[in-house]
Amino acid sequence: ESAFIHRFEPARDAGSAPLLLLHGTGGDENDLLGLGKMISPGAALLSPRGRVLEHGMPRFFRRLAEGVFDEDDVRRRARELGDFVGEARQRYGIAAPVAVGFSNGANIAAALLLLQPGVLAGAILLRAMVPLSDPPKAELGGKPVLLLSGQADPIVPASNSARLATLLSEAGARVDHRVLPAGHQLSQADVTLARDWIGNVA
Ligand code: MLT
Repeated sequence: ESAFIHRFEPARDAGSAPLLLLHGTGGDENDLLGLGKMISPGAALLSPRGRVLEHGMPRFFRRLAEGVFDEDDVRRRARELGDFVGEARQRYGIAAPVAVGFSNGANIAAALLLLQPGVLAGAILLRAMVPLSDPPKAELGGKPVLLLSGQADPIVPASNSARLATLLSEAGARVDHRVLPAGHQLSQADVTLARDWIGNVA
């Protein structure tokens, strides 16, 4: 069962990689459509709503506390999301997407990269952290990943995002990790860097 409530916007520019938009805790499928359009105008947008509810707030997997994840659920939900992407690709006739994930959405995108390397063509991870304490050995074969962290992020310690960058690099991803003068929230620099990066890789 991999049905997700979602929005899909077809491409207006066939040359751009489709984006898989993954919102943060308490967001929904509408949240990141504007960001997606700013990052890659004309790209197809696939935007699911997380199926886990935490006090009514949609998320992509369960957590035990802030920053402490239910890793069995991370694995199960990553599988579900991977299945959804496969089905959506068939239904809408799109290529493997580049994920654009914020916070909880970035964390499930990182899990997807590590658990199911075939699903994503690349990823923009905004305020991500290490999603699994003991991930399988993934083979990411040069997939491009942009990791944007906030230097004053109260949720993601610098050591954690650095560890994620190392983990993904060791799995073979081409990681560009930037630490911005920001907190957990996104800044204009995130949009600019993401737009420039995707223009060069996708
Ligand atoms: C998470 O639960 O994925 C992280 O704590 C980020 C968040 O959603 O606040």
